[in-house]
Amino acid sequence: MKKSSLDKQNKIWGGRFSSSPDKLMEEFNSSIQFDQLLYFEDIEGSIAHTEMLSKQNIISKNEFLSIKSGLEQIRKEISNNEFNFSTKLEDIHMNIENRLVEIVGKTGKKLHTARSRNDQVATDIKLWLRKKIDKIELSLKTLQQTLIEKSEIYYDLSMPGYTHLQVAQPVTFGHHLLAYVEMFGRDRSRLLDCRKRMNELPLGSAALAGTSYPIDRHFVADRLDFIKPTENSMDTVSDRDFAIEFMSASSLIAIHLSRLAEELVIWSSDSFNFVKLPEKFTTGSSIMPQKRNPDAAELIRAKPGRIFGNLITLMTVLKGLPMTYGKDMQEDKEPIFDTVRNIELSIINMDGIIRETEPIPKNMMEALQRGYPTATDLADYLVKNLKIPFRDAHHLTGKIVLLAEKKQSSLEDLPLEDIQTIVPNADLTVLDVLKIANSVSSKISYGGTAPKNVLKAIKNAKKRFLKG
Ligand code: ARG
Repeated sequence: MKKSSLDKQNKIWGGRFSSSPDKLMEEFNSSIQFDQLLYFEDIEGSIAHTEMLSKQNIISKNEFLSIKSGLEQIRKEISNNEFNFSTKLEDIHMNIENRLVEIVGKTGKKLHTARSRNDQVATDIKLWLRKKIDKIELSLKTLQQTLIEKSEIYYDLSMPGYTHLQVAQPVTFGHHLLAYVEMFGRDRSRLLDCRKRMNELPLGSAALAGTSYPIDRHFVADRLDFIKPTENSMDTVSDRDFAIEFMSASSLIAIHLSRLAEELVIWSSDSFNFVKLPEKFTTGSSIMPQKRNPDAAELIRAKPGRIFGNLITLMTVLKGLPMTYGKDMQEDKEPIFDTVRNIELSIINMDGIIRETEPIPKNMMEALQRGYPTATDLADYLVKNLKIPFRDAHHLTGKIVLLAEKKQSSLEDLPLEDIQTIVPNADLTVLDVLKIANSVSSKISYGGTAPKNVLKAIKNAKKRFLKG
């Protein structure tokens, strides 16, 4: 970091201080290493703030214009990597203000009139997070689209559906993928919901009490695309609920992604071999030449660790914190940034994986045949056709499964005579219900897995999630 004039004197805290902070303290206290990420929003907020100050005759029009052009120059310097950040200046707010004074002279010293870093930082984070939420929400929509397109191709492909990771009933691959489309749909609505509460502007709450200057907070709110200013200055500077809400919405996204990731890991394992993962999202082993490891999926599976951790970090920082701002709150940034980065990466990597993952129908069918997945259909047949009460039908079906197991046969291939040794009045029609394709196509209840339902669900999902 380049030497600034402040390095020599360290007068950022003015006359109250006669000595510089300890070197240790300087390192510990500063946030510029990470909060420089907020520079764009910090400048955006400062321009709106000073425009308001000039409209209210708190500063002159010319002063505003000169501050604005200085801030725009700083924005360029930072985006071109030409800005020298200093830990002596603590954070992004002080770094920008100090540079502004260097550029425009003493007018720059008016920038901080009628505000505090406390309302400023809350504003910056809201502005920054809103943009990130929009991006994350859009990438979830893209992922939904990818899943919907896949399910369109495989709307009638039978595969085992599991409970307890034991083969339960046949389902379609399309139906299975659409389950995740629902999860990501709820995730998107949670994000948008928490974004709504980010639409109240903190700026103008000043340090904690408001300000005696005749400011116009509604004007600034309008300029920065907030619906209204916040209501209570003390609440405002101490509030990070919006970040916690975002991080808990992200935690749910991470949970959903990790479940899909785990399924991909299981499905692509040698033992299952239900899908072939795209090579580009796998790695080899440095020792075992035959290996192809699902690293991207495994990383997505692991990300909830840090994403939940970040949520717990911020909740713990805020718990028990007395009104209003405390330096504790500077600890909000790294977890917020880390969550954004990792949730974004997880979503786009998952999208990349899903796009080119192909099922292996033959292996899905073999697993189905091993698992007696039409046993429930058989029990239902006994109820519907032979008027046997369900519990008895369940018992008889269990015996038939045991028989199939002894004969090392699938239910589909079990001869009628064998079935009749247990249910004497079963006739040929029973063989139909044992067929996997028939089982799947019989699940026509709303939300069920029958291929024709899946086609309808796809149409519906496109309307619900992809329009607009
Ligand atoms: N860097 C600080 C933070 O992120 C900005 C607010 C500092 N306010 C203060 N009164 N020290 O929380």
